[in-house]
Amino acid sequence: METTRRRFFALLTALPLLSFFSAVSRRSPKTLPPTPPCDDHDQPTPSLTEGPFFTPHSPERSTLLDRDMAGTVVVLNGRVLNTNCQPIAGALLDWWQADDAGEYDNRGFRLRGHQYTDKRGNFQLETVVPGLYPGRTRHLHVKVQAPGQRVLTTQLFFPGELRNERDRIFNPALLMDVRRKGDKELATYTFVVNA
Ligand SMILES: [Fe+2]
Repeated sequence: METTRRRFFALLTALPLLSFFSAVSRRSPKTLPPTPPCDDHDQPTPSLTEGPFFTPHSPERSTLLDRDMAGTVVVLNGRVLNTNCQPIAGALLDWWQADDAGEYDNRGFRLRGHQYTDKRGNFQLETVVPGLYPGRTRHLHVKVQAPGQRVLTTQLFFPGELRNERDRIFNPALLMDVRRKGDKELATYTFVVNA
């Protein structure tokens, strides 16, 4: 009963606001921003720990695959948007990850590289599915930076991994959509940054 009453009063409070906004939209339809086409992408992508294995000055490339590299190929198609769902061109994405055996190359740049989004805020990364190493679930590391903005350091995760729930760093907001196609995995992810 109490809840119902509270809801009723909340509605009463909201009504004048609603009519105000509809009046504004009737009067000045051209000055209102367009409705964002991507309701589920209005929250900034969460940051996560960098971990101990980042190396600066990685080479620019969109494929991290080397000849004879072991593991399942994963092709990640993604976008970088701002919190108004506008695509960000020229955003930097700097990737690093473990190889199929769960090892990082801490001397060179194997499975490390950076790239930039195109005019529409899109990028494609070709790499291998990272292996597991003690204490962690499967993940990709990345730094994302819109031009002139702060760097977002975070990680992306694979769905359906047994270790996801046990990994204290894991965040479901950072799960990629992944599907199998032939012998490859096709993944998608949209980053949202303050810009
Ligand atoms: Fe890692």
